[in-house]
Parts: sequence; structure tokens; C-alpha cells
Amino acid sequence: MQNFTFHNPTRILFGKGRIADIAREIPAGARVLITYGGGSVVSTGTLDEVTAALQGFTLFEFAGIEPNPTYETLMQAVDLARREKIDFLLAVGGGSVIDGTKFIAAAIPFVGDPWDILARRARVKSAIAFGSVLTLPATGSEMNSGAVVTRRAGNDKLAFLNPLLFPRFSVLDPSKTFTLPPRQVANGVVDAFVHIAEQYLTYPVDARVQDRFAEGLLLTLIEEGPRALHEPADYDVRANLMWTATLALNGLIGAGVPQDWATHMLGHELTALHGLDHAQTLAVVLPAMLQVRRAEKRQKLLQYAERVWGLRAGDDDMRIDQAIAHTRSFFESLQVPTRLSAYGIGVEAIPALLAQLERHGMVALGEHQNVDLAQSRQVYELAV
Ligand code: NZQ
Ligand code: ZN
Repeated sequence: MQNFTFHNPTRILFGKGRIADIAREIPAGARVLITYGGGSVVSTGTLDEVTAALQGFTLFEFAGIEPNPTYETLMQAVDLARREKIDFLLAVGGGSVIDGTKFIAAAIPFVGDPWDILARRARVKSAIAFGSVLTLPATGSEMNSGAVVTRRAGNDKLAFLNPLLFPRFSVLDPSKTFTLPPRQVANGVVDAFVHIAEQYLTYPVDARVQDRFAEGLLLTLIEEGPRALHEPADYDVRANLMWTATLALNGLIGAGVPQDWATHMLGHELTALHGLDHAQTLAVVLPAMLQVRRAEKRQKLLQYAERVWGLRAGDDDMRIDQAIAHTRSFFESLQVPTRLSAYGIGVEAIPALLAQLERHGMVALGEHQNVDLAQSRQVYELAV
């Protein structure tokens, strides 16, 4: 196992009705800016529940954070927050709203152009405190310190990470996910699945617990993901999915093990240029990525084949083939297509995607930093 430091300061309030408990998580007298997306939290009543729980605080609202949140929109919230001297942010929504709120939290006290935090890795020295009320299990943003922001003007979708950007608390009320459209439920399952794969399907370092945790989370997604689509009113299914997605990317399974993330980086360019949902990009890229890099990932792929998909018969190569095929069929069974062509994208799109990767410095990706542009080309080609 590799050396690691593990730290996760986010308090989780899990279960039905927990929004009622948020007032005690926010400093008394705080001027609170509630941030949300395109309005789902208004129509579902979640926003009303939040404001009712925060009586006595000075409340402001910022609406309109879009899926794949943009710098352009988020800077409007930064202006509002600076003007109104906001000292606490509360994100109510999915990963996009939480990510966007992390950017707002870092940008408010930032001196200079906050886009530099993403584009030039400028140091974040302070951030406004924030919490979240999660409505979509997928990204893990509710319990990690990362965020992904898009700058529409340049087609740049970039990630940043900072220990100051863990939410102080996150409410995980599974009943808030009943209103999700099937597409978002499926997206969440795929995103969490690929988060686990990026931290598990690398090379062995004898990290038994992390491997077993990862396998347990994958098996839970394989069992509960389809149930969430077929039995959408089942609370326990939603609860298990929600906790799985959070644990998939809160640092636990990634501690002390090599991590890949090449699938995510190739995926971000697909969203930036073609507008695919984040999870759709992952469903397309992961099977091709595993295929192209099957030699270097051989041992973990065999472990995955056996422990996650129960594949014990046949020779090693056959079991790896089958494990990749099962992964693809799992995504397809959730109605998330796994070929670029299914989204109307052909080989002619690949040079521009590679140019984006190059421009963003994504030329040495993966757990061995050996995924260069030539290998990324192979992956995109295989994904068509
Ligand atoms: O905007 P509203 O109206 O709220 O509707 C949203 C949105 O249209 C809707 N929705 C959310 N909760 C709902 C609901 N509709 C009905 N009922 C509910 N309970 O769902 C749509 C998608 O929401 P979004 O927040 O965009 O989805 P997701 O949570 O999948 O977030 C995706 C973003 O997270 C980033 C992705 O790149 C993408 O930008 N990621 C963040 C990560 C992190 N911070 O660690 C890691 C991930 O790999 C990912 O990259
Ligand atoms: Zn993701």
C-alpha cells in the first residue's frame, strides 16, 4: 500500500427529514446564500423545506446554475455574494450546483481573476464556508473537495481540488431523489461506477481493504442501479445508491492506491465540445479505455472479472474480454449508450478532441502517466 494522508471533515446528515437539522450546522447570524440549479428544487418543494429550516437567518438566493456549471454564471453569484457580504453558502441540488458553489466559495475572497484557479492552478488561500443538500447521487461532490467548472467562452471544462473546499455538512435525504428523471438516475449509477473503476482498475498494491470496499460498492451499484429504475419508489434502494455514490468518491477507497482518471479527462472534452452528459461520456470512454490498456491493467482486470462479475471459467484473456463486455452491457441496460456513434459523433470529431486534450495539458494521463495523445486517439477511435 502506498503512503497516504486521509482527511475528510464533511459531516453527513443522512436520512429522511434531515433538512430540518441544518440550522444548527450554520453559524448563528450568518448571511446565507442558497444556490440552486434550473428549478427542480423549486418544483419538488425541497427549496421551501430548506428555507423553512433556516428561519431566523438572513437568506439570499441564486438560481440558474446549469448542468456542467459555467464560470460565466457562477461569477454572477460571486458578484451577488460580495455585494451582500455573504458568509455562508448552501448548495441545494446535484453535483453541478455543489461544484459551482465550491467555485463561488473560493472565488469570493480571491484576488485577481478566479478563472486562474482552474486555468493556472492559482492557489486558493481562503474560501467561504458552505454546506449542501444533495438531490442527485452521482458525483460524490457532497463529501469531497473537488469541483469541475466549464468556461463557455473557451470550451474549457476543468477540475480543481482544494482542502478548503470540503462542505462543512451535507444532507443526504434519499427521499429527495424520488423525483429524478430516469436519465439522471442512470447517469448517477454510471458516474459512481466509473469513479470506483478509476481508483480500482489500476495495478495491485496489496491494498486489501480498499479493493474489497471498491468491489462492495460496485456490486451494490450492479444490484441496486437497475432496481432504482424499475422500483423507483423504493426508499431503501435510493438510500443504498446514495450512500454508495458518496463513498465512491470521498477519498476512502482511493487512499493509498494508484488512481487513473484518464477516462474522466477524455470524457470532459466530449462534454466541452459535444455537450454529452458527464456520465454519458464515461459510459463511452471506459470500455474503450480498458480495452486499449488491458495489458497494464491485466491483474486488476482479472480480479474484477472474478470478484465483481463472477467470471471464473476460461482463459485469462477471455475473462478480461467478458469483464469489459459485462461493463458495457451494464451501462447499456441502464439506457446509457456506450458508443460515440449513438450520440451522433463519428471519427471526424477526434482531431478536435485531441487538440483540446493537448491544450489542457492532458498528455500524460493514467496511473502510469503513459496515456499520451496517441493512446487517447486509440481510445476515442475504439469508442466510435
Ligand atoms: O438544475 P435542476 O433544475 O436542479 O435539474 C437538475 C439537472 O437538470 C436535475 N436534478 C437534480 N436533482 C433532481 C433533479 N431533477 C429532479 N429531481 C431531483 N431530485 O438533474 C440534472 C443534472 O444535474 P447535475 O447536477 O448536472 O448532475 P450531476 O450530479 O450528475 O453533476 C454533474 C456535474 O458534476 C461534475 C461533472 O463533471 C458535471 O459537471 N463532477 C463532479 C465531481 C466532483 N465534484 O467530485 C466528480 C465527477 O466526476 C464529475 O466530474
Ligand atoms: Zn465523474
